Amino acid sequence: MTTEQSDTVLLDRYSSMQTGCAVEYTSQDLLGLVEEIRALKKKHNAVVLSHYYMPAELQITSEHGGIADFVGDSLGLSRAAMDVESDYIIFCGVKFMAETAFILNPDKKVLLPNHDAGCSLASSITGADVVALKAQYPGVPVIAYVNTYAETKAECDICCTSRNALAIAESFESDTLIFLPDKFMGRNLQRVITEKTGKKMILWEGACEVHEQFTPGRIAGMQAMNPNAAVLVHWEVPDDAVLQALANSPGIVGSTSDIIRYVGESPMKEFILGSECDLGATLQGLYPEKSFVTPCIQCPHMKRITLENTRDALRSIGTSLEAKYVIDVPEDIRSRALLPIERMMEFN
Ligand code: 13P
Ligand code: SF4
Repeated sequence: MTTEQSDTVLLDRYSSMQTGCAVEYTSQDLLGLVEEIRALKKKHNAVVLSHYYMPAELQITSEHGGIADFVGDSLGLSRAAMDVESDYIIFCGVKFMAETAFILNPDKKVLLPNHDAGCSLASSITGADVVALKAQYPGVPVIAYVNTYAETKAECDICCTSRNALAIAESFESDTLIFLPDKFMGRNLQRVITEKTGKKMILWEGACEVHEQFTPGRIAGMQAMNPNAAVLVHWEVPDDAVLQALANSPGIVGSTSDIIRYVGESPMKEFILGSECDLGATLQGLYPEKSFVTPCIQCPHMKRITLENTRDALRSIGTSLEAKYVIDVPEDIRSRALLPIERMMEFN
């Protein structure tokens, strides 16, 4: 592809992924930043891994003229990180994801363009909290959502992502499980698991500050305005909202990948998204013939990653500024957090 052709593909892709609430770059700014980032990646032997909640400009892959080498959900990104052979991983996602990448592939340098890209779930619990829970419920297996920091993971039996949480919870013989830290995801999983197996779950009081905004009233309003649409709700959405959503429309509660797959397989043409707004950008890029009602609810942590700070992280390589971007997990914590993550990787 010539540079001109590649620029056209990128601009077409970018405009097809707009949800109406993202910051739009001018064509000139977008092309300039992308060109510089692509050149810096080559120079420093770096790859860019990007989560589905990133804005369109960070989600477009190199085959479409963009900067990302891989775009995925948290499980897909962990698998991709394990396989990276380049010297640097530039992580366009949040801190717990970048930490997981480093834990799995510690020979690589993982750079996070903004270390303030946190997560309300990850910051709701510490390793000491898990130790106290284990003392309160001796012998009960502890499943940690991957949306936790390394020192929390280090105290748990197994991790899970939204994609494999159900399979992991079902795989334990114990009739009681501790699931942390998302109480809403826990309640949604509990409903399915208790019906199937009678297992009971002890939950932590954390919540995703994005998905908890999908109240039953907000979803009912979107349904009333879009009566022919199916609903797509993430596991992290409050359980009462999930029940009311699915009682009144066809649809799915599931992980980010479940949502993407459901849209691809569904004969329906309109969808209401009960998840992070930029997943709407992903869906629009993948299924241009379908339409999505996106809620303009964005994760402030994910939005701390931008084209500009991704470029700055790459520019810093080999300079005194590099340390500002490097993700590091002390080896004693890394080695203990690795075990529950590796166990998780056995489940799809
Ligand atoms: P998944 O990518 O596992 O669906 O996680 C969703 C999420 O909220 C990430 O922060
Ligand atoms: Fe955390 Fe929610 Fe943001 Fe995901 S969307 S990073 S769970 S705050």
